[in-house]
Amino acid sequence: MNILILGGGGREHTFTWKTAQSNKVKRLFVAPGNAGTAGTKLASGEAVTNVDIAVTDFDGIKALVLKENIDMVVVGPEDPLVKGIHDYFLNDPELQNVAVIGPQKLAAQLEGSKEFAKEFMNRHGIPTAAYQSFTREQLEDGFAFLEQLEPPYVLKADGLAAGKGVLILNDLEEAKAELKNMLVEAKFGDASAKVVIEEFLSGIELSCFVVTDGKHYLTLPMAKDYKRIGEGDTGLNTGGMGAVSPVPFAGESFVNKIEERIVKPTISGLQKDELPYRGFIFIGLIKVGEDPYVIEYNVRMGDPETEVVLPRVKTDLADIFEAVQTGTLDKINLEVDERAAATIMAVSGGYPEAYEKGKEITETATIEDSLVFHAGTALKDGKTVTSGGRVIAVTSYGKDFKAALQKSYQNMEKLHFDKMYYRKDIGFDL
Ligand code: AMP
Ligand code: GLY
Repeated sequence: MNILILGGGGREHTFTWKTAQSNKVKRLFVAPGNAGTAGTKLASGEAVTNVDIAVTDFDGIKALVLKENIDMVVVGPEDPLVKGIHDYFLNDPELQNVAVIGPQKLAAQLEGSKEFAKEFMNRHGIPTAAYQSFTREQLEDGFAFLEQLEPPYVLKADGLAAGKGVLILNDLEEAKAELKNMLVEAKFGDASAKVVIEEFLSGIELSCFVVTDGKHYLTLPMAKDYKRIGEGDTGLNTGGMGAVSPVPFAGESFVNKIEERIVKPTISGLQKDELPYRGFIFIGLIKVGEDPYVIEYNVRMGDPETEVVLPRVKTDLADIFEAVQTGTLDKINLEVDERAAATIMAVSGGYPEAYEKGKEITETATIEDSLVFHAGTALKDGKTVTSGGRVIAVTSYGKDFKAALQKSYQNMEKLHFDKMYYRKDIGFDL
């Protein structure tokens, strides 16, 4: 089988590393990929090929798929899914038989529109924060709704806003001003033409990952990520600074509640609503007391959660992808590594605000007992250089998350680039 992975971050390097281990895979392409994917070898010894095509350049992707006889496209990020890459393949006679791992556009609205996701959850009795949504014409109604709520106030841009569209405010007047900014001044562009205002839920967050063929599903190991740039979960939000799996506070009975109250009704809801879904679902959860609530759906894997979830999956990933395509996920026996995994993300100085790129990455000693996943890296004149905010993730196994973290921290010290930064307190709250 020839596979193309779309994306170029740590998640996609991890997908590449795991997929490359399958004997089923003859050739593996990544678009655009990074220095890490380019250095990955298949089980056969053949190298993975990076192709410089953007994830939303559907025509460019089509040309590549036809030229290289690609059988399957695995979509990493949400953008191409929300823009309808799966539908683009289904609607093209030359591409109809190419498998796409990722939901169709209709179903991708679970991430593409917060209101769509809320309506879905309410229809199917899935626990989530109470809410109402407002457009610019309903600004006064929005103010009135805020007045009824207790602080803090949660304001969410309906559409995709690169992970920045959620504001949590303590002050009523500030919340009103921001609601106006979002609706009237287009603070997040078109994404905030509609705003969802939610009840604030207080608890600890975790991520649940499901892969589905639309009918059957497998629940992958739970994970917890660390989104803030600063230690003690302070400062600006990032894509994610580290992650651990499993999640110590998600014991068997809590995981069963997630399965019964959230995962099962989500999968049956997709079927009832005829939302075509073959791919990963990332359910952002919050544990309130002993009960799980959904904060958000994403129609893809998380990053850096993938860097700890896939290393714990022993089952051949190409087998899982094939079963997703043929609707036979019930035939797959998911094998999970009992060990814990932890990852730490090294980022460019200044991230998530302005930062410099093109810094050479060096290794002072060979890293042997950790997995090194590239996120924002590129090859330049034979050297590996930084090319993004999040640069490189170091994942380790251990008997528990503390042992895994310790190994990742030891090995992180062997990596260097100018203005490199990473959080030293991943797992501090567990
Ligand atoms: P989202 O993009 O919907 O995941 O929201 C971003 C972050 O805002 C989440 O990871 C939570 O930390 C926080 N958040 C979102 N909704 C709520 C809520 N209803 N109550 C408390 N925190 C929330
Ligand atoms: N780590 C959070 C995300 O991938 O959205």
